[in-house]
Amino acid sequence: MTHIAQKLAHIKPSQTKAISQMAAALKGQGREIISLSLGEPDFNTPENIIEAGARAMREGHTRYTLVAGMLPLREQVVEKLSKDNHLSYEPDQITIGTGAKQVLYNAMVATLDPGDEVIIPTPCWVSYPEMVSLAGGVPVLVESRRENGYMLDPREVEARITPRTKWIVINSPCNPTGVVYPDDQFKALAEVLRRHPRVFVLSDDVYEKLVYPGVIFTTMAKAAPDLADRCLVVNSFSKAYCMTGWRIGYGAGPAPLIKAMNLVQSQTTSPGSSISQVAAIEALQGPQDYIPRFVEHFHQRTQFIVEKVNQIDGMDCLMPQGAFYAFLNCSGFIGRTSPQGKTISNDIDLAMYFMESANVAVVPGSAFLAENHLRISCATSMDNLVEAMKRIEAACRQLN
Ligand SMILES: Cc1ncc(COP(=O)(O)O)c(C=O)c1O
Repeated sequence: MTHIAQKLAHIKPSQTKAISQMAAALKGQGREIISLSLGEPDFNTPENIIEAGARAMREGHTRYTLVAGMLPLREQVVEKLSKDNHLSYEPDQITIGTGAKQVLYNAMVATLDPGDEVIIPTPCWVSYPEMVSLAGGVPVLVESRRENGYMLDPREVEARITPRTKWIVINSPCNPTGVVYPDDQFKALAEVLRRHPRVFVLSDDVYEKLVYPGVIFTTMAKAAPDLADRCLVVNSFSKAYCMTGWRIGYGAGPAPLIKAMNLVQSQTTSPGSSISQVAAIEALQGPQDYIPRFVEHFHQRTQFIVEKVNQIDGMDCLMPQGAFYAFLNCSGFIGRTSPQGKTISNDIDLAMYFMESANVAVVPGSAFLAENHLRISCATSMDNLVEAMKRIEAACRQLN
């Protein structure tokens, strides 16, 4: 039998993808599953971007590009970062990857020696800890508590910094909690980081554009400009431009770091496809007016879910400030019994119960390293959400 590497022994498959696949399989068997597990917008890629991709193929953009990504796209990213974020970069400080996912992984492979530590606030996106482990590092999980609105306490961060700490990950707006770090929270964290000059900040800004009305997005490099040369800003076309399948994202940071990441990229995947790169230029250059419309839909849907969840005795949910998820606490249901006599021992049991009894797929909080929570994705139609909440309410009433 093929020998599978030891380093994979503790790597978990993405639970969000597993739930989505299970939902799809049940749908395939004829079950009327409503999937609230997806991490991608339900809108199609805007037409001007699709057209740019089609044109790119006809115009011969079908070949390898530079390892760092084509220069016109990197220049466009430089302009975007200047215009939207007041950050100043040169094109050699930008790397284009196969989605933000690859950019993040390249950063880990390029910087982690065995045993190096990466501070990851939990609840967190499913892939950070596994990427760190795959790259030979050690994920150091620091809980961002509900009482703090799911934001990191800078004192707890400082307590976990060691001489091996290489990175701290900040993901705002956060998947799964939807929290958006305000400027003063970044400044408080920056104060800690100034005392630890070897720690870099991995700023995962992929949900930047999806912030709800009245909420202001910022990023560490902007909030604390003196730390900008210790920040890797990671962003993506997946969420704001509904381009998850195009696999295109980017990173911006100090030139030596970007160079090292490009070295990894040169020997592994090369950058995102040439076609997606041309389409990404159009995404940045073209009209942006559809983004507020997407945000409005996500906002209304999320408000609806939060209101409904908070009407269920035993569940509660803070109103997120961005992204398109509702992250609810379901501790009140742990220990209850289903009509079939099965005890709901944890969030995974509850998610499975909803799948089996209510035909609704949600992701257990454990996937995000937060027990007794569930994540509901609002990236589906309002009709689906209304029906799903009816089913969930009914299923909850059946639990003793
Ligand atoms: C927080 C976060 N970072 C990164 C990614 C990956 O994005 P991309 O599609 O650009 O690889 C996701 C996707 O779900 C995400 O939720």
